[in-house]
Amino acid sequence: MSSQPAAPQLETREHWGSKIGVILAVAGSAVGLGNFLRFPGVAVNNGGGAFMIPYIISFLVLGIPIAWCEWTMGRLGGRFGQNNAPGIMYALWRRAPAKAIGAMTLLIPVVIYMYYILLEAWCLDYCLFFLKGGFSELFGAATTNIVAGSSEEVTAVVGATSKHFVSTFGMGAHGDLMGDGGLFWLVVICFLVNFAIIYRGVSRGIEVFCKWAMPALIICAVVILVRVLTLPNISTGLGFMWNPRWEKLLEPQVWLAAAGQIFFSLSVGFGLILCYSSYLRKNDDVVLTALSASSTNEFCEVILGGLIVVPTAFLFLGAASAEAGTFGLGFITIPAIMHFMPGGSFFGALWFGLLFFAAVTSSLSMLQPAIAFLEDGFGLKRRGSMAILGVVTAMGATATMYFSKNALVLDHADFWCNLMMIVAATCQVLIFGWVIGAKRGVDEMNRGADFRVPRFMPFVIRYVTPAFLIVILGMWSYQKFPEYLAKMSPDRQARAAERGVYEPLVATQMAAGETDDEALQVQMKEVLGAPDTRVNPEELPDWLRTATVEVAEGKRIAVTEAASNAASAASADATIARFVFVAILGFLIFLIALSDFACRHRIRRTIEAAESAESPWGDES
Ligand code: ALA
Repeated sequence: MSSQPAAPQLETREHWGSKIGVILAVAGSAVGLGNFLRFPGVAVNNGGGAFMIPYIISFLVLGIPIAWCEWTMGRLGGRFGQNNAPGIMYALWRRAPAKAIGAMTLLIPVVIYMYYILLEAWCLDYCLFFLKGGFSELFGAATTNIVAGSSEEVTAVVGATSKHFVSTFGMGAHGDLMGDGGLFWLVVICFLVNFAIIYRGVSRGIEVFCKWAMPALIICAVVILVRVLTLPNISTGLGFMWNPRWEKLLEPQVWLAAAGQIFFSLSVGFGLILCYSSYLRKNDDVVLTALSASSTNEFCEVILGGLIVVPTAFLFLGAASAEAGTFGLGFITIPAIMHFMPGGSFFGALWFGLLFFAAVTSSLSMLQPAIAFLEDGFGLKRRGSMAILGVVTAMGATATMYFSKNALVLDHADFWCNLMMIVAATCQVLIFGWVIGAKRGVDEMNRGADFRVPRFMPFVIRYVTPAFLIVILGMWSYQKFPEYLAKMSPDRQARAAERGVYEPLVATQMAAGETDDEALQVQMKEVLGAPDTRVNPEELPDWLRTATVEVAEGKRIAVTEAASNAASAASADATIARFVFVAILGFLIFLIALSDFACRHRIRRTIEAAESAESPWGDES
C-alpha cells in the first residue's frame, strides 16, 4: 500500500444505473430464504393471523424507520466518498465508537455469507435432484407395498425426505459433508456465481442480475401460487395458516419473533442497505425507493411465502409437518408435498430453483460491503479485494460445512449475527436521531424525495424506535442468552447428554410400576444422582449398568459406553460452540483495528477531500 496520500476519486465512483435497478437490487437483497421458508414457519408457530399484528407493528416502528435511516446515512456517506460502513459511520460521527459500530456492521454480512452460501447450495442441490428424478425414485422406493392415500404413505414419504435431509445436510456427524464431495462442488459453484456477478461491479453486475432475477423469481412464485390456490380443499390449509389465535399475543416470544423476522427479512441492521444506498446520487430519492423495496419484500413474504408452503403442507401432510421449523419445513416437508401434488417434480424443481435465485440475490449483497471497505479503506483493486474476501469466506464456509452435525456452527453463527444485527441497528438509529439529529437527518432524508416522510418521523426515530429496539434487545437477551451460554459449557452439555441416554431406561423401568411424574423425578435422582452432577457408572444399580442400548445401524452397546460416547461428543460440540464465539469476537476485534487504521489514513483523506470539494451536507457550508 502506498504511503502517499491518495487523491480521492469521487468523480469516478460507481452509481446505480436506474431507479428500478436499485429498487430491485435492494429488494433482491431482502427477498431470500427468510421470506419463503422462515416467515411461514415463524407465522404459523406464533399465532397465525394474529402474528400479523406484532409483525405489522414491527414493520412500521422498526423496519421502515431503520430502513429510511440506513438509506439516508448510506447516501450521505457516499457523498463523503464512502461505500463502506466504517467510513460512512466515521464520516457522520468523527468519534472512535463510530468506527467500532461500522466494523460490526461490516462483520455481520460476511459471517452470514459463510453459512448462507451453504443454504444456497442446498437449494441448488434439491432443484437438481428434482430435475434428475431423484426424489421420484426415493418416494417410489419408500412407498412400495403401501396403499396410496393411506396415512402410512404420508409417514413413508416424510420418513424418506427426513433421511435424505439428514444425509444431505450432514446432520448425523461432523465431517459427513466432506465425504463424497457432492455438496462441496455445489458450494464452489455458488461461490463462483456470486463472485462472478460481484466482479462486474454494482451497476453492471448486481443491478443487471437483480433486474432479471427478481421478476423471474416472482413469476415462478406466482405460477406455484396459482397451482396451490387451485388445489381442491386448499381453504382448509389457508385456514390452518391464517386463522388468528389471539391468545398468542399475550406471549412476549411472539413479539420477539415478529421483530426478529422483520430484521432478517428486510435485511435492516446488516449494513447492506447502507452500502447499496451509498451508490446513489445526491438528489436520488430514498423515501419512495426504500418503501418500494420494502413493499416488494413484504409482497414476496406475506403473499407468496405465506400462501404457499404451510397451507399445502397442512393439506397433504397434516399439522405436524406444517409446523416444522425453517429447516424442516423447507427441506423435509416441501419435497414430501411434491409427492402428493400433481406435477410435483416440475413444481419441486421450480420451487428450489426460485429459492436458489432468491438466495443468490441476497448473498451477493453480503459481499459488496466488505469489498467496498477493502477498496475504500486500503485502495485495493476489485480483484485484490475479491481474493481476500474469497479466502476469508471460504474458510468460514468450510468450517460451517465440516461441523455440520445438528448444524452446529451455522446455528451459533446465526445466533451471534442476530444479536449483532439488533445492536448495530440500535446504534445506527441512535446516531441518526441523536448525533446527526432527527430533524436534520429527516430533512436530508427528504432531499430529492418523491414524497416527504410524515412529520412525526423525527419523533419516532429519536424516541419510539430506539425504545422499542432496546426492549427487544433486552427481551431477546433474557430469553436466548442463558440457553446459548449453556450450549457453550462442555460440562453441562456432557451431563445433559449422558442423562439423555440413561433416563429413558430408568423411565421404562419405573413405568412398569406405573409411577407418576414426581415419583419418577425422585427415582431419577436416586439412580443417576443430582441433576447437576455427572453420572458415576460405578454407582449405578446392576440392572442399569449391565443394560445395552441400540446405536447407529442397529448395533447394541453397553449403556455406560453409549453414555460416555454421548457425553464426549456433547462436550466437544460445546467446545466448538465456544470456538465459534471466540472466532467471531476475534474477527470483530480485528475488523475494529482495520477500520481504525483505515479511518486514520485513507478514509480520513477521502472524507477531507470530499469536504473541501463541496459540502457533502448539501446546501449547508
Ligand atoms: N433478507 C434475507 C433473507 O430474507 C437475508 O433471506
